[in-house]
Amino acid sequence: MPDFPAGFRWGVSTSAYQIEGATTVDGRGPSIWDTFAREPGRIVDGTTGDEACDHHHRYAEDTALLAGLGVSAYRFSISWPRIQPTGAGPALTAGLDFYDRLVDGLLAAGVDPVATLFHWDLPQALEDAGGWLNRDTAARFAEYADVTAARLGDRVKLWITLNEPFIHMSLGHGMGVHAPGRVLLFDAFPVAHHQLLGHGLAVAALRARTASPVAIANNYSPVRPAGDSDADRAAAAAYDALHNRLFTDPLLGLGYPDAPGVDPTVVRDGDLDVIAAPIDVLGVNYYNPTGIRAPEEGSPLPFEIVLLDGYPRTAFDWPVAPDGLRELLLQLRDRYGDALPEIQVTESGCAYDDAPDAQGRVNDPERIAYLDGHVRAVHEAIGAGVPVTGYFVWSLLDNWEWAEGFTKRFGLVHVDYPTQRRTPKSSYAWFRDLVRR
Ligand code: BGC
Repeated sequence: MPDFPAGFRWGVSTSAYQIEGATTVDGRGPSIWDTFAREPGRIVDGTTGDEACDHHHRYAEDTALLAGLGVSAYRFSISWPRIQPTGAGPALTAGLDFYDRLVDGLLAAGVDPVATLFHWDLPQALEDAGGWLNRDTAARFAEYADVTAARLGDRVKLWITLNEPFIHMSLGHGMGVHAPGRVLLFDAFPVAHHQLLGHGLAVAALRARTASPVAIANNYSPVRPAGDSDADRAAAAAYDALHNRLFTDPLLGLGYPDAPGVDPTVVRDGDLDVIAAPIDVLGVNYYNPTGIRAPEEGSPLPFEIVLLDGYPRTAFDWPVAPDGLRELLLQLRDRYGDALPEIQVTESGCAYDDAPDAQGRVNDPERIAYLDGHVRAVHEAIGAGVPVTGYFVWSLLDNWEWAEGFTKRFGLVHVDYPTQRRTPKSSYAWFRDLVRR
């Protein structure tokens, strides 16, 4: 492995609903994922995040795993309904206390706390009032950022407002495969705009409470047209605008791109200035490229997603394409030039069906190969002049993978859910050695 610049941030990521469990303690309110997971047929294995990895009780053990890994940062998310059970009003002290203990434990272990404010677990009460379709949710989000940073702002080293607003819009509100399960197709655009507005308002709220840098974590996927036809290329451009530019152009001051669904009547005077509030870091989550071809006659979408041939695949059937990460980092540099802030890769990882062998060891050579390729791709992008200053593996632990329940394992650490036993995989040792170097 080639050398990385001194001070490069190596980390791992998780999110609240996927690991914490303890969904009814300390006055936590219900989130849209508690509701959604209980609806028959939503989650492939019929499970919920009620227990997940029981991290709320086992956070000290998990902090020790982070210390053993030697990472310089840990990206976790804060559960909004633990802080404000109905998404409004004063913060619950007991809810904040949990994150306070976590943050202090991380600092004592020499690990920088990196906190995401919204990783999809909206308080159910806000959803009942329209959720992100309701403009007021943006204001509620800024209030939540304010009360959270009032307590933790002095110790969290990087604040991330939203996680993957594109996925929350498209899977949660466009296609209905994530909570809250709405099927609005392109009528989901207000969800994009109100998340971005909430982000901009939260940036201002955070700046008033903390001197730490502020970021957003977007999901990117380089788009590969299935063929050479003009129709395939046009479909690929439409998908690219939606996935890769809708949530980045306005953040970097360019306004909305010409993407399917963009509805200017939702955008009020001054909104674009709020959204373009300067950020310090752009978080980049990357898993795979997307193949796109022209849609069939009569399709409600201007593109069709196709499986890309010629790549190895993960247990999710996602193509393993480390080059895609280098490509998208260069594309961000070429697209945004001087407007592009520092980048940290805030998620990168893969699911495989890892199981302990007869001796109880978990060998995951595919994950090591996956991470090795993606880390090298980051190094190449840095060499080409892209300002990348960090790389976080998704995920520290096997965890509750949304609509896939417990069927997909992304962790460097295996979790046996019935006993909650944690077993570091061979990829944990590999990453530890990389970080150490
Ligand atoms: C999300 C994670 C998720 C991972 C793997 C990302 O889209 O931020 O919560 O577990 O991908 O699907």
